Amino acid sequence: MDELQKKIDSLDKDRIPVHVAMIMDGNGRWAKQQGFKRSDGHTEGISTVHRVTKLSSDLGVRYLTLYAFSTENWNRPTDEVATLMYLIGWAIERELPELLANNVRIHLIGDIDRVPEEPRNRLFYARDTTAHCTGLQLNICLSYSSRWEITEAARRIARLAAEGKIDPEAITENVFSDNLATAGIPDPDLLIRTGGEERVSNYLLWQIAYSELYFTPVLWPDFSDEQYVDAILDFQNRERRFGKTSEQVQNNE
Ligand code: IPE
Ligand code: IPE
Ligand code: MG
Repeated sequence: MDELQKKIDSLDKDRIPVHVAMIMDGNGRWAKQQGFKRSDGHTEGISTVHRVTKLSSDLGVRYLTLYAFSTENWNRPTDEVATLMYLIGWAIERELPELLANNVRIHLIGDIDRVPEEPRNRLFYARDTTAHCTGLQLNICLSYSSRWEITEAARRIARLAAEGKIDPEAITENVFSDNLATAGIPDPDLLIRTGGEERVSNYLLWQIAYSELYFTPVLWPDFSDEQYVDAILDFQNRERRFGKTSEQVQNNE
């Protein structure tokens, strides 16, 4: 039996994280190490997206949320932004048949209006074509930042209050969550960041309040299936206390 299968077999199948979020970082450094252009790192990163999606689906993860492009990434050099946008559109079109075959549903999160028309149309097409799928939900965060999302939610709720449609006293955490782009999606159980930086970079700030964080120095294009399973094994060895004591958690209180 190969190493990967051995690792998969050692997972507790009843405690697979329902929602895994990922910060796919390190494409540029990977390219530099190989003596390639940064854009080659992004192209290589797409194969990791392909593998991670397939493995999530096979393991029974219900939601996979990928940080593909942040609001701040718009400030990168124009040619890198253009290449990234092109690659995203190209990749989604190429992956669509297999996503459909694997019953994967695409959900887009972010200020997608800022994405150039061609990749945007490909993304919308993929979203609409997979709308009936009931397997893994693949959330693509694109032109996304958490502060953007939270500000949008605040604006929407304020508008409802101004129109008299919601009583300010009735604004609960649930009301707020329901106005985020992730409405209806359970919070991530596990957040993985590749590339060695131990920061959150404006990602899902509200939603990761109680997520388990996993940082690995491995650059995104090198992030292997085995390393993904290692992250889940690590997650399964943690005790999620949600503010309670260890004794309370163990007694299921
Ligand atoms: C992550 O890789 C991909 C995106 C942010 C789109 P980077 O491009 O940030 O790679 P590094 O961090 O420069 O190595
Ligand atoms: C975070 O990576 C955004 C994505 C992976 C899309 P960055 O490379 O943009 O993050 P910083 O700039 O190092 O914080
Ligand atoms: Mg980076």
